[in-house]
Amino acid sequence: MIVVLLGSPGVGKGTQGVRLGRTLGWAHVSTGDLLRAALRQGTALGLEARKYMDAGELVPDEVIVDLVREHLAGLDPARGVVFDGFPRTVAQAEALDAVLAAAGRAVDRVALLEADDTILFRRISGRRSSPSGRVYNIYFDPPRRDGLCDDTGERLIHRADDQPDTVRTRLEVYRETTAPLVGYYDVNGRLVRVDGAGGIDEVQAALRAAVGV
Ligand code: AP5
Repeated sequence: MIVVLLGSPGVGKGTQGVRLGRTLGWAHVSTGDLLRAALRQGTALGLEARKYMDAGELVPDEVIVDLVREHLAGLDPARGVVFDGFPRTVAQAEALDAVLAAAGRAVDRVALLEADDTILFRRISGRRSSPSGRVYNIYFDPPRRDGLCDDTGERLIHRADDQPDTVRTRLEVYRETTAPLVGYYDVNGRLVRVDGAGGIDEVQAALRAAVGV
């Protein structure tokens, strides 16, 4: 099964996608995580992507589609996939459909996570991440030791693109460019809406019920 998680910055796509993937044994594919990994490794793609990410703008479609195509090629084709942060434009959605069709697969469900801006800003301002990608929240999901990752002991960081001005740009970009995907996917009952405002466990239960897994 292939599920796409859609929703504003900070709504919980990563948090829910990681949990869903872990519970069901699916691959969790986050383009934000893939780009941040490329940045940490100092690859040409990472350095190119950085200027867009730091400004809160989208990385060009062709760069993202190539990245996802390459990543999918390394995955077991029988395994479920949950996409988080991809697709983000209609062009990316069309490209994903074509890549999947070539493998005899298709997007089965698209879950739109929803919460109001006050909640999003609070979640984003409290987010702290380990360099290897584990995400915490100082208000809602704190690490056991202040400022340190429970798993690796690494020092937690505040993402560069989580500053208020950049968050405002990301929200605008979401509304202008990504929100139209709701119309793209809202056919044949493929799109389901999930209230993302509750606690992490509550949203996970609502997501699984809506997707039917
Ligand atoms: P990306 O990393 O995808 O950022 P985003 O979509 O803006 O999403 P976020 O990571 O901010 O939020 P989330 O919804 O995953 O929330 P999370 O679970 O972390 O992309 C970053 C940049 O990369 C983009 O701006 C762009 O430049 C580029 N990019 C990426 N993909 C691209 C693409 N396809 N095309 C072009 N460019 C692309 O939760 C947030 C916080 O809230 C955490 O602290 C978490 O612990 C907490 N939290 C989550 N759920 C709850 C809850 N239910 N209750 C309480 N706290 C919660």
